[in-house]
Amino acid sequence: MIKFLNFNNKKKDFSNIDIDLNRIPKHIAIIMDGNGRWAKERKMPRTLGHKAGVEAIRDIVKECNNLGVKYLTLYAFSTENWKRPKDEVNALMKLLIEYLKSEIAELNKQNVVVMHIGDISKLPLICQDELNKAYHRTKHNSGLVLNLALNYGGRNELVYAIKGIAQDIKNGDLKIESINEELVSNYLYTKELPDPDIIIRTAGEQRLSNFLLWQCAYSEFWYTNIKWPDFRKTHLREAIYDYQNRDRRFGGLKQE
Ligand code: FPP
Repeated sequence: MIKFLNFNNKKKDFSNIDIDLNRIPKHIAIIMDGNGRWAKERKMPRTLGHKAGVEAIRDIVKECNNLGVKYLTLYAFSTENWKRPKDEVNALMKLLIEYLKSEIAELNKQNVVVMHIGDISKLPLICQDELNKAYHRTKHNSGLVLNLALNYGGRNELVYAIKGIAQDIKNGDLKIESINEELVSNYLYTKELPDPDIIIRTAGEQRLSNFLLWQCAYSEFWYTNIKWPDFRKTHLREAIYDYQNRDRRFGGLKQE
């Protein structure tokens, strides 16, 4: 559902909208879609769309940190993205390395923690190395946690968790009776993170694409036609404003 808040048929300007700083979502997760279409519209190669997408990442990380968002998860490379042409996969890996190398000092200065989820053992060694370096350099920071989902898939994550649980039962470290929702959450890649409050998807598609399948049980969804390279803080504020005007009941009843 694309929910624009139109007043008098004019698109509202959200750049200075009064969002309630006391009710900022703790965890925002974003499916950054539309880089390829953005590039195609401009008759550019798809990789330039991804490159432009990095600009949007910069802007959104900064704004999330300013607003006091605690966790930002970005779906940067899915387990299905390996099906893309080799050149595009290589370009994405290169962008990741460049981003981490060129941005880490600034992210550290901004008090950001850089972490990742997903099976990064399948990424090129240099990517793994830069991701681990970024984490170790920033892990003591207390600002925004920027969580990059890389070679991430929700189903793959559930398989990983089930294997972990089965192994611990086999070792005698865990009893079947102890398995509950909290325990399962603790075997996921996201064990250190709260569930996302809101999942944003750009570029008009309305599907989850294997993102945070377990964690999104009660997340609010927000879609926009804006393609990721054009997504800026004004769109983020619009999403947060909309989120703050929703009624989250978690299966219960509205508090009167
Ligand atoms: C989806 O657009 C986007 C991706 C698969 C990759 C997202 C990557 C970046 C924004 C840059 C690299 C990441 C980091 C962390 C530096 P699409 O290609 O599916 O777009 P389309 O649907 O229009 O083809």
